[in-house]
Amino acid sequence: MEAEQPITFARGAPSLDIIPAEDLRQAAQRAFESDPRGAFSYGTAGGYVPLRDWIAERHGAVREQVVATNGSMQADAFLFQLLVQPGDTVVVEAPTYDRTLLSLKGLGAEILAIPMEADGLDVEGLAHALEAGARPKLAHVIPNFQNPAGATLSLEKRRRLLELAGTYEFVVFEDDPYGELRFEGESLPTMLSLDTDDRVVYASSFSKTVCPGIRAGYLVGPGEVIASVERIATGTYISPNMVAQAIVAEFCRSGALERSIETVKRALRERRDATCAALQERLPDATFTPPEGGYFLWVELPEGADVDALSAAAKDRGVIFVKGTDFLLEGGLNTLRLAYSGVRPDEIVEGIGRLAEAYRSLSVAAA
Ligand SMILES: Cc1ncc(COP(=O)(O)O)c(C=O)c1O
Repeated sequence: MEAEQPITFARGAPSLDIIPAEDLRQAAQRAFESDPRGAFSYGTAGGYVPLRDWIAERHGAVREQVVATNGSMQADAFLFQLLVQPGDTVVVEAPTYDRTLLSLKGLGAEILAIPMEADGLDVEGLAHALEAGARPKLAHVIPNFQNPAGATLSLEKRRRLLELAGTYEFVVFEDDPYGELRFEGESLPTMLSLDTDDRVVYASSFSKTVCPGIRAGYLVGPGEVIASVERIATGTYISPNMVAQAIVAEFCRSGALERSIETVKRALRERRDATCAALQERLPDATFTPPEGGYFLWVELPEGADVDALSAAAKDRGVIFVKGTDFLLEGGLNTLRLAYSGVRPDEIVEGIGRLAEAYRSLSVAAA
């Protein structure tokens, strides 16, 4: 391998070798042959009907509770547009997905960032903030293998969060693109499935289980919320990409999705193991909790470590990652996110080696 070739731990995306290209090709062919009118027309703002029905069935919902969008980022944007006015308080996890922070800042929301713990959001910390007078409109939570922290919200905390949402009347936005990607331990029920009070709007995506280029995601929630999102969708793009959704519908119905999920999970487990082992060996100053699924590993370096400088030194050595500060409103100067999803194990070993060299170069410079 060329020393100059950049190895990127920056993108939360699968590598090309685990994308089910042949199954997608076959799904496209079947979709175009069996339903050309559905695939090639504008369709409705709610999305391609057979896909909405498949999603509804998977989540114990009905078609009117589902809107399928161009990626779940679009679903998130619609929901925020619907629910968040300038000055509204929105709870987020700290750290959280950088694009969520950017969207909420752009809408003028008051962001109430509640720290993450090993078992997800500090829900009691949120309870204290609520008791002290915080009145959020919405709590955005990534329950499984959180981006960027890798942590999963415990069942007890899921229940407690729903209880708080009922008492303080806020919406729980369960943003769950990684839920299917558990390669270790027991799956937990979605908050959507535990909700008896119409408090949860759930989002997921085919980006992480099929491929991001297909741009297919969705929301499941109370019928009125979904109907309002559909109105925003109509005004935005008439209808989402029917060609993509027809392919995804066929892909799901044929059983190719389950195969793809297995392939991705196998690769992720191997990549997580390679990343953790390489860090332990080459960068023993790094502390981290190995995630039980998903794409990300959150790494903490000793207090005082300068990850900003590390990022530049790593880049010089052909390794890219995202600084922890991108996922936080404050703090986290000694943290970083490694996405192991898009790097093969041999590249991981090389990449972590280069990262460790970059780290040592800073320590030497500081000494
Ligand atoms: C938590 C979270 N939500 C939403 C998205 C957006 O995904 P999509 O490709 O479906 O737009 C991502 C992608 O990284 C994510 O990590």
